[in-house]
Amino acid sequence: MALMRYYLDYNSTHPVLPEVYSKLATINGIDANSSSQHSRGKSALKKINQTTEFLKNFFHCDFDVIYHSGATEFLNTVFSPQNCDQLIYSQCDHSAVHKIAEFRRSLALDSLKLGHLSSQKDWLKELNKFNQSGFKSWFNFQWMNNETGEVLSYELIDKIKSQTNCLVHVDAVQVVGKIKNFQNLPPNADIITFSGHKFGALKGVGFSFINPSIKLKPLIHGGGQQNSMRSGTMNLHGILSLQAALESRDFNQDFIEGEKLKREICQLIQKNSKLEFIQSSSSNTICFMHESLNSDAMLTHFDLAGLDVGTGSACTSGSLSPSQTLEAMGYQNGAKRNIRLSLGPSNWEHQSEILIKLEKVLDKI
Ligand SMILES: Cc1ncc(COP(=O)(O)O)c(C=O)c1O
Repeated sequence: MALMRYYLDYNSTHPVLPEVYSKLATINGIDANSSSQHSRGKSALKKINQTTEFLKNFFHCDFDVIYHSGATEFLNTVFSPQNCDQLIYSQCDHSAVHKIAEFRRSLALDSLKLGHLSSQKDWLKELNKFNQSGFKSWFNFQWMNNETGEVLSYELIDKIKSQTNCLVHVDAVQVVGKIKNFQNLPPNADIITFSGHKFGALKGVGFSFINPSIKLKPLIHGGGQQNSMRSGTMNLHGILSLQAALESRDFNQDFIEGEKLKREICQLIQKNSKLEFIQSSSSNTICFMHESLNSDAMLTHFDLAGLDVGTGSACTSGSLSPSQTLEAMGYQNGAKRNIRLSLGPSNWEHQSEILIKLEKVLDKI
């Protein structure tokens, strides 16, 4: 009999929801180029405009909406040399931000790396020394951390905005369905960015809310779509999948079931004295470290048991590198000995099977 597999890697990607495929099938016949002037093209554009209105209502936000291929593209847009004189970010930010900072350094452009914002003292002072008036400075605020599930309070944004002249980009990629009230966006943010594949839409599509007073220069030039802010034929299916996914999810249930399963998993982890887990307020993420086994060795145990789990630090091409987030939090050794379980809707009806498998693996390691 084939081994039953369970997917516990939702922070890496949320498999496309079946409801999304069904809803996309209904647009067969209007899937023209949304820039075309014939009626099919106009119907396609109308569908995109309806999705834009839906997103604004869903997130209670009246900012402009820009569609793109996902957060990586838009981080590159906002922090490009033409839009950003100074980049301020945290060591706990996604690897895309680190790579952008590296690229900026190669061009001799300013970037300031802060540590773990919740524990590093005086980072606002450090930021103030760096942040010069007359410069366009962007602060990257990662709302929920992809590796640990830590959620930053968005009062920090108020502090940054009241004490510095930074603009704030909120990386909201991980929050959908994993924190309470994720639909209430940080009120003082200048740009807020999401990736569809983290909540069940198609991969390769994302969107950002942009305060209309912010005038960004495009990263991608071409046919002038989206008011020339992001050229290229619009990804009709991808964009419509955003609405389809958000409408199909029961976020209340996801939050309650996630918290319940997370609590039980944490109890199992606590039974093994070689393991330490990191507290976090997301409902779905459990990150733990082993006192001696490295992530690779642990992954093998989970994989053989039929559990698809992540390490959190291996977003790119499967390579395992020490977790910058855990290092910033002071876990120098734990940074190579961590496992991340990230829960999602397909887990709710298999909670007991998952717990049985997990208990067996956690007993072995
Ligand atoms: C917090 C966070 N920001 C940004 C990204 C990049 O998103 P994408 O791969 O959709 O471009 C990810 C992806 O894992 C993420 O978790």
